[in-house]
Amino acid sequence: MKKPNLIYLFFIVYLLGSCSVKQQTASNQTEFENGAVVTAHPIASEVGVEILKKGGNAVDAAIAVKFALAVVYPNAGNLGGGGFMVFRGRDGSVSSLDFREKAPEKAFTDMYLDKDGNPITDLSLYGQLATGVPGSVAGMDAAYKKYGTLPWKDLVQPAIDLAAKGFPITEQQAGEFNRYQERFKKFNPTGAAIIRDQEWKKGDQFLQPELAETLTRIAEQGRDGFYKGKTAEYIVAEMKRGNGIISLKDLENYQAAWRDPIVGNYKTYKVISMPPPSSGGVALMALLQSVEKYPLKKWGFQSDSTVRAMVEAERRIYADRATHLGDPDFYRVPIANLTDAKFNQERMAKVSLEKATPSDEVKASKFPGYESEETTHYSIVDKNGNAVSLTTTINGSYGSLVWVDGAGFLLNNEMDDFSVKPGSPNMYGLLGGKANSIQPGKRMLSAMTPTIVEEDGKLKMVVGTPGGSTIITSVFQTILNVLEFDMTAQESVSAPRFHHQWKPDVIDVETDAINEKTRQSLSEDGYKINKRGAIGRVENIVILKNGKLQTGADHRGDDKAAGY
Ligand code: DON
Repeated sequence: MKKPNLIYLFFIVYLLGSCSVKQQTASNQTEFENGAVVTAHPIASEVGVEILKKGGNAVDAAIAVKFALAVVYPNAGNLGGGGFMVFRGRDGSVSSLDFREKAPEKAFTDMYLDKDGNPITDLSLYGQLATGVPGSVAGMDAAYKKYGTLPWKDLVQPAIDLAAKGFPITEQQAGEFNRYQERFKKFNPTGAAIIRDQEWKKGDQFLQPELAETLTRIAEQGRDGFYKGKTAEYIVAEMKRGNGIISLKDLENYQAAWRDPIVGNYKTYKVISMPPPSSGGVALMALLQSVEKYPLKKWGFQSDSTVRAMVEAERRIYADRATHLGDPDFYRVPIANLTDAKFNQERMAKVSLEKATPSDEVKASKFPGYESEETTHYSIVDKNGNAVSLTTTINGSYGSLVWVDGAGFLLNNEMDDFSVKPGSPNMYGLLGGKANSIQPGKRMLSAMTPTIVEEDGKLKMVVGTPGGSTIITSVFQTILNVLEFDMTAQESVSAPRFHHQWKPDVIDVETDAINEKTRQSLSEDGYKINKRGAIGRVENIVILKNGKLQTGADHRGDDKAAGY
């Protein structure tokens, strides 16, 4: 009698075990046959996959994810911010959409300086005056008009439901909501859904009824539901409650812009990325060209020589960025010079990898004819091979910290991405000058780098990340991780990262980036190393030779890949 009981017990244990293994594989699955969505929040990833399963294409899914993130990921997902989208169609056609915020008409060059000409730092960072005219809703409207296939309302509805019925917050979110309570209260004396006296806990339902109403207006009226009527009036009333300057006219006039993407080659790969007013594509292309002739694969991942080559390239390209990059509608950006492979390779050929070049000795390049942390990224591929790489932001975590009273969404603090004064660093330590000075209607320079890579005319990789100034170098490293160091999508994202941005003259490293021996050798040769916390939250999809979609969601956050 004893034997059958034991067998029965084993059977139960085996069943339980195999269930939990199955569950684990389901939630950690990294390869999908048909479509894949990788975002910073599990619920947003599921929203995207549902749209793909209903027959929507990658852009339909991107729009639904954008609105869902505005609800479930309020520190970066947004209605009150802006961003960039890079698209590659199944036929190989490419496009890029600029829905970056703009300076309001009442903005002026010295608006954040005191009477002695010194920057009043917090003025471009917090409160209504820190806000640029939002571009997100106009961006989604423009993307839909060009590529959308499912009814617009169906793309906004999941977000409306999440705002109206609530969703359970993650542990990381509970911690953030609690840490920010005092700051939220300071900037929102009339209250906001996120403000409460009781501590937030993992699993608490987060309801946002005002946001649900705003989203309903957007579902019913498209862009007019945001830039005109009730929502626009709420925004202007919020401006008046503080020191803001955005007017009804600013809102009505806002237009997203289709721009020619940056397209270039790295070895046999084609790289498609975001042009100005993001510096991302230009800088990424220049970085890849700069390291192209080095035997990185032979040297190895984060080996002494590899790190030196990458850092010396980064130092020079960030110096160029500070001088030459800005809104192309206002400033002639020397894109062709900056992304000239010969120029970048000849410059690197003169660089010693024996000793660090002090950043003070590195000046922006001179070209003839020319003067002179919170964002979120997602990657989507649909069953036909259309791909979207989209990065969106309100700049700092929770942007300006101001929720539009009555409309329930956060306003960006993107004005800080302008150079408020030549030589004064912004919140990411980035410098700038005339190219990125404040002018009414101008877009502030960005580092966002939504990118798509092709191999032999076929889609290879869809990648991007938040991280302020570190965005460009994180995308650079992730691309090299896959193309040079043969990592899987997940490995390429999980690998520890480092970053150099010319000034300050330091290599920022995550705790486990660059091994101790290499750090020692770098220090001996004049490289200053600064240990810091997580750099970026990269979302990557790699298309395998067999057509499968291999995903990498960043473990640094709640990020999640979903697919079918
Ligand atoms: O556009 C930019 O470059 C910045 N506003 C991005 C900010 C950001 O990535 C913050 N995230 N951690």
